[in-house]
Amino acid sequence: MRKVITYGTYDLLHRGHVRLLERAKALGDYLVVGVTADGFDKVRGKLNVSQTLNERMRAVQELGIADEVIVEEYEGQKIDDIRRMGIDVFTVGSDWVGKFDYLKEYCDVVYLDRTQGVSSTELRAESGHLRMGYVGKRVLVEKYLRESTFVNGVDPTCAMLDSDESLAGCGLVEQVYDFDEIVGRCDAIYLASHPNQHYGQIKRALEAGKHVLCESPIASTRETCQELQALARSKGLVLADAVKTAYSTAYHRLLLLAKSGHIGRVLSVRAVCTSLVDLGSEDISSVEGKWTSSKAWGPAALLPILQLLGTDYRSADFVRADLEGHAGFDAFGEIRLAFEDGYGEAVFGKAAKSEGSLVVSGTDGYIYVPAPWWKTDYFEVRKEDSSQNKRYFFQLDGEGIRNELVEFARAAERGGKCGLYIDDSVSAAIAGLLGQFDASKDHIELSPIKLGSDTCGEGVAR
Ligand code: CTP
Repeated sequence: MRKVITYGTYDLLHRGHVRLLERAKALGDYLVVGVTADGFDKVRGKLNVSQTLNERMRAVQELGIADEVIVEEYEGQKIDDIRRMGIDVFTVGSDWVGKFDYLKEYCDVVYLDRTQGVSSTELRAESGHLRMGYVGKRVLVEKYLRESTFVNGVDPTCAMLDSDESLAGCGLVEQVYDFDEIVGRCDAIYLASHPNQHYGQIKRALEAGKHVLCESPIASTRETCQELQALARSKGLVLADAVKTAYSTAYHRLLLLAKSGHIGRVLSVRAVCTSLVDLGSEDISSVEGKWTSSKAWGPAALLPILQLLGTDYRSADFVRADLEGHAGFDAFGEIRLAFEDGYGEAVFGKAAKSEGSLVVSGTDGYIYVPAPWWKTDYFEVRKEDSSQNKRYFFQLDGEGIRNELVEFARAAERGGKCGLYIDDSVSAAIAGLLGQFDASKDHIELSPIKLGSDTCGEGVAR
């Protein structure tokens, strides 16, 4: 019996796939089809596959051409499969000519002519583009614009900065100067404006029927955040929290490991995010509309605590050190959350430096993520018996932004929240806690930090 194998993504199965499979089958007596797992596709740079692995495998199976359908999960698996299954012929379409010649050592390699005029990429494109507008802080707008170019289905349309700067150097989209114009021209808005502006801008965008991806916190109180979430739901729109860390594979896997009991019961989560910024060069004459350390870092530092321990904390305590002469401008802070059965500590600062690590402690071990944990591709699970320690590595594309945009576009297409990695309850808790941090009168107040003598002011971007 002559065994043939072929591999592919098989997204939105089309006649090109069917013809390829028919001819592959005709090369022998038994056909094995390898369908690429979602994670493997991401590593290969195919970010926006529309269907799940299950849907794609089922579609191939239902054609009735393949004798066996398997999952392709890792680099180099083809060699393993060919050896293990005793394959005689490996085949793929002619778009891969030469690429798999290295398999000639193990079996025959045949490239079949690709069917002209059809591809999954084109079919995905036909299913619609999300015209995206970008609003707010230049450094973030530019990052999201750059990452959008890697995501099919997202069309950067125009951008508006919250400063007088020009986007000319970036050259990706037209710069506009009016929020309503951007709302009018786009299907979705990425908001990186100061949190004080979020409520008004999000409301205008949602009322105009536009999806919103918003830098955290979404609003300045839990209640206003929940009001906006309800408005989005009632209109079938997406209002997503843009903490990019949530979308990085390493962080996401870490959550899953911790939640499935790998370190026993999770007792505490300590997350530290600091960057020494030259505050002397920032305009901090008034606190209004300024990126204090809690605004800049609070959401990221709170995220793992709320995602691992939940949003039902029993008490919240606040520690802060303001800048001398700028009451209300927190340059360092901590939020300490006590839960019924756990404890969380979020530490953030723009005029203080610490190890930017994440430590999740459990009854059976702990998870350690070295600095900068919020954009990591790596973490370790450590046990009492160090021979049981494990290191986990994952690819990190665009600090998680790329994947975030893919999931946002997918959720928008489906008119709901599916695929998003941050629950509404977590977004609302972040908004609530940071609102309380600002408003609280009974925080533990450290003496103010003096610019110049207490700090030397290194410029580090977020
Ligand atoms: N294929 C083909 N003719 C086409 C499209 C695909 O023969 N018009 C073949 C590919 O060469 C490959 C198999 O079908 O051997 C699975 O291809 P896949 O990458 O899943 O499909 P594409 O349509 O090429 O997907 P994409 O546009 O995402 O690259």
